[in-house]
Amino acid sequence: MTETSRTPPERAAESLLAFWAEAGVDAMLLDEPLDRIAAGRIIPPKPPERRSEAPQKPAAAARGGPDVSAAIAEARRAAGEAKDLEALKAAIAAFEGCPIRFEGAARQAVFARGRPDAPLMVIGEGPGAEEDQRGEPFVGRAGQLLDRMLAAAGLKDRVFITNTVFWRPPGNRTPSAAEQMVCAPFVERAIELVAPRMILLLGAAAAKSMLKRDEGILSLRGRWFEWRSADETLELPAMPTLHPAFLLRQPAAKKKAWSDLMTLTERLDRPDRPH
Ligand code: URA
Repeated sequence: MTETSRTPPERAAESLLAFWAEAGVDAMLLDEPLDRIAAGRIIPPKPPERRSEAPQKPAAAARGGPDVSAAIAEARRAAGEAKDLEALKAAIAAFEGCPIRFEGAARQAVFARGRPDAPLMVIGEGPGAEEDQRGEPFVGRAGQLLDRMLAAAGLKDRVFITNTVFWRPPGNRTPSAAEQMVCAPFVERAIELVAPRMILLLGAAAAKSMLKRDEGILSLRGRWFEWRSADETLELPAMPTLHPAFLLRQPAAKKKAWSDLMTLTERLDRPDRPH
């Protein structure tokens, strides 16, 4: 369509969409648009009518609060029954206890990619738009940077990559602690099944939830911590580092992340000493 063939309302709509996109709005929360400006007053939102094929929000466990423990128990049961990574992927896809799934930005569950017997487990925050579309973690710009860094460190084919949550949060907001807790039994089961020798945590959200610590990423990065499973039967060395999305915004910080990767690789390649 040429500029002149568009009607004024079409041009106005296009310009408004461009403004929203520029402002970072990239997800729709309701199925239908809501005209809050109509009639010169703010109209209270009606609850959206869900199309029958859309996933239905389960009454329990979806919003956080007291239902979180029921969702965690269900995640633990479903994860525990998964005998291998394929079964775990299917269990995650069927799981309805994580509220992000119903917030309107997620098309599908995004579980993992990489070697099923990798010595290094890499855990990020949660899927973004590209990951949501393709169903694999870290395949957007941040993922491409991550892959280049892993390749340069000789880790390319030695990793299994996943996230703390498996659905894309709207507007790429940081997942809440409750959402991460609900997904944690699946992350833990993945660690159990892959049995890596160590874990690399990308960014503050992954580091804080996996290590149950509160310091900022600049204080946590490059240090070794002990990750423990909820029942404390599993224990692995874990290192937080800067998230590749942060490195895209702050390229000068890449040397810190590189130094973290070097520290980690040195330990990964160190032959196991007998106790
Ligand atoms: N950022 C993440 O934390 N995870 C992804 O999968 C992609 C971007």
